[in-house]
Amino acid sequence: MDFLLSKKLLLIVTGGVAAYKSPEIVRKLRSAGADVRVAMTSAAQEFVTELTFQAVSGQDVFTSLFVGETDSGMGHIELARWADAIIVAPASADFISQIATGQAKDLASTICLASTSPILLAPAMNQQMWKNLATQANIKKLKQRGFLFNGPSSGEQACGEVGLGRLAEPETFVAVVSDMFKTNHLSGSKILITAGPTQEPIDPVRYIGNRSSGLMGYCLASVAAEMSAIVTLVSGPTALPAPKGASLIAVNTARQMFKATLRELDSKQDIFIGAAAVADYTPVKTAMNKIKKIEETITLEMKKNPDILAAVSQHPNRPFTVGFAAETENLERNAMNKMKKKELNMIAANLVGLSDQGFGSSKNELFVFYKRSKSHIPRAEKLQVARSLLNLIAKNYKASKK
Ligand code: C5P
Repeated sequence: MDFLLSKKLLLIVTGGVAAYKSPEIVRKLRSAGADVRVAMTSAAQEFVTELTFQAVSGQDVFTSLFVGETDSGMGHIELARWADAIIVAPASADFISQIATGQAKDLASTICLASTSPILLAPAMNQQMWKNLATQANIKKLKQRGFLFNGPSSGEQACGEVGLGRLAEPETFVAVVSDMFKTNHLSGSKILITAGPTQEPIDPVRYIGNRSSGLMGYCLASVAAEMSAIVTLVSGPTALPAPKGASLIAVNTARQMFKATLRELDSKQDIFIGAAAVADYTPVKTAMNKIKKIEETITLEMKKNPDILAAVSQHPNRPFTVGFAAETENLERNAMNKMKKKELNMIAANLVGLSDQGFGSSKNELFVFYKRSKSHIPRAEKLQVARSLLNLIAKNYKASKK
């Protein structure tokens, strides 16, 4: 399958003698149908000229953080948004260290920081530099953050030493980059996701909300789109940008989310993932005017909101249905009960109330339960967790079709 056809790939070349192999990587990726642009660090330009990459990519090469200096007028943010995937080859020890610490000191590091697309690093350096604990700590950190790696491979090095640190061979890149786009059985599947909090109005200026940032659902939507699914995201109010490749339906209240979600089921969905933190109750009445500070105590009468997840699983057009369970105790028992009660195919449970995990955090850890089995997705950045969860969903969805 032509996984790279029309894919927009940005190759970042950093400073290292292995940069002489990078033009060949551009040629191979282009032959596989990809649209390849190249950005170079100033150190890379000491090894290979901009002109070489211009010739092999057929495009202007990006070398500066300042738009005025790039012929095509694409700034670092546009470039970061443009790329479906970023490949750094060679990735020098210094560049790896820069991105591990989130630096934005030149065009290349800034693009990596600004991008939400998958990033593949192909390290190349002296074997001792590779072995160094500082480099290994950076690699570990980047893997946890969801960065992907090709190589390094082992063998004779330009410096005369032998060991791990050689740039992966240019021929390997088409297969490795294709893997980044492999559709994991989601190609063309329709996926409906709910995300974020809901806001239940008390009066024209006040509402009952919750601490959900929406990040988990947004990461799921962008990874699903990356896996070539047709993604609709029904989201409560969040501060997040719309995920690339997904259609966003913005709502405020649980009832609006319920209506929007059920409406989407009319046009048959294959998979539903309920990642939203839906308010369980809503005020019986919303005051027409701002409630005045007169009474010593006031009482707010609340009524139950519809359960979107349960309604989806009971719908005649029921898709493969995945729920979330945020638990503070008895995680497995509570999650399993919820899965049975709401008749779900899968449930992803996380412990809430822990610092730096779950609600409002960029990290998460999930325990996933399905019919006769369970999996653990270790604590990592939510984008990485979303990748692991969608792989599990894709596998189980496919098995459910057999
Ligand atoms: O029952 P509980 O609220 O703990 O279940 C959590 C799961 O149910 C989440 O997947 C959440 O998105 C979904 N849910 C829903 N509608 C509600 C309440 C929860 O879809 N009203």
